[in-house]
Amino acid sequence: MNLLIELAALGVLAALIFYVSFLFFTTLRSSQLIAEVAQSEQQLFQARVAEITAKSGYERDKNEFSWNGFRKFEVARKEPEGGGICSFYLRPHDNRPLPPFEPGQYLTFQLDVPGQRKPVMRCYSLSDSPKPEYYRVSIKAVPPPRDKPDVPPGLSSNFFHNDIREGTILDVRAPGGHFFLDTNKHTPVVLIGGGIGLTPVMSMVNLIVESGSTRETHFFYGVRNADEHVMKEHLERLAAEHENVHLHVCYSNPTDTDVLGKDYQHAERVSVELFKKVLSSNNYEYYFCGPPPMMNSLFEDLREWGVPEAQINYEAFGPATVKKKKEADDATDTNGAGEAAAGFEIEFTKSGRKVPWNADIGSILDFAEEHEIDIDFGCRAGSCGTCITAIKSGEVDYLSEPGEKPESGSCLACVAVPKGPLVLDA
Ligand SMILES: Cc1cc2nc3c(=O)[nH]c(=O)nc-3n(C[C@H](O)[C@H](O)[C@H](O)COP(=O)(O)OP(=O)(O)OC[C@H]3O[C@@H](n4cnc5c(N)ncnc54)[C@H](O)[C@@H]3O)c2cc1C
Ligand code: FES
Repeated sequence: MNLLIELAALGVLAALIFYVSFLFFTTLRSSQLIAEVAQSEQQLFQARVAEITAKSGYERDKNEFSWNGFRKFEVARKEPEGGGICSFYLRPHDNRPLPPFEPGQYLTFQLDVPGQRKPVMRCYSLSDSPKPEYYRVSIKAVPPPRDKPDVPPGLSSNFFHNDIREGTILDVRAPGGHFFLDTNKHTPVVLIGGGIGLTPVMSMVNLIVESGSTRETHFFYGVRNADEHVMKEHLERLAAEHENVHLHVCYSNPTDTDVLGKDYQHAERVSVELFKKVLSSNNYEYYFCGPPPMMNSLFEDLREWGVPEAQINYEAFGPATVKKKKEADDATDTNGAGEAAAGFEIEFTKSGRKVPWNADIGSILDFAEEHEIDIDFGCRAGSCGTCITAIKSGEVDYLSEPGEKPESGSCLACVAVPKGPLVLDA
């Protein structure tokens, strides 16, 4: 009997010890958890403060050091990259600090090309992350089109390659453009460069790694073969040194000397079919720039794959290339309306001309050129604002969404079409 009582007492004691230990360790773990949560909240808070401080520093520097109109830059270095591409490192001639820019933005140049009756305006993306001492652009020399070998080669790009040297002074507008990576976000990102369309996404990936961001980054680079593959070592180093950066080089037409798995990872074009094989899901932010066929198919195929439009960002280097299906339909309607209302005219007051509108020619800029009416242009894609033209009366529609709609009373002629009779100050 005594033994039973002693055993029961021991049992109660053991249960009590277990309960007290349980309470002790639970309290300890809770306080540890609370401390951990507090610590991670504090880290988050500190990161946010750093972000806001950096952003406000960015805004301050941008406001303080930016400029209106053109600023003189000296070509400090000219560096052939291979593949018909040359990089130009530009230092401000006044030696004042440079404003920062968003990765993906471009510079607009006003060039005095010999033999041209007026300055030539062209845009070139900044191909490196922001640096305090220089801006860099990388330019591909544009040959005549294959079907027109007798026409002159690209004016500005060949002027850069052939005439611009170290020490040349250039007139440059401040960085601009709406195609840029939102560096405040930490969401996984897919960056895609086709050919020379590499430049804006190169700026983005450089900034991601230099800022210490661990954002999951897939970098797709599409070229024909090794002859066009530029900045190879730099990209390979980024991927080797940063485990969040995944490099996918695609050769659409590899040569016998190109080595799969070494020079390139995929013997195919960059496409959504490839993304389906390589990415874990479609849930990324996409940024792409490349030749027109790539731009068009990527946009439509990403949408078909269920990627929300808000997650698809792109930039065209020439006449607006991505015509969304709906917009294309709308444009057809607009053109249809234009043709139905055949007989309405566009009046160009400065040139003293009145011409019947023909929607088949394209934008107002194309139409003006067809009739030898001068409207300045840069990007021909609704990005740079060079072709802005005052509307004296009438209304316009846009063939593709301009980077930023101009103030009412004016239009971006390179992407605008008239809704009806129009009077322009051109
Ligand atoms: C936002 C933006 C960013 C850009 N970034 C870059 C970049 O980073 N790097 C880069 O290299 N480019 C970039 N570009 C493209 C660049 O701005 C120029 O469009 C490109 O260099 C070609 O300009 P060009 O003056 O050399 O050619 P153009 O003189 O405009 O000629 C274009 C083509 O027309 C042909 N042509 C000439 N005359 C005729 C004729 N009579 N009939 C038919 N065809 C003719 C030329 O041979 C050439 O093939 C960018 C463009 C934009 C809008
Ligand atoms: S030419 Fe650049 S916006 Fe029209």
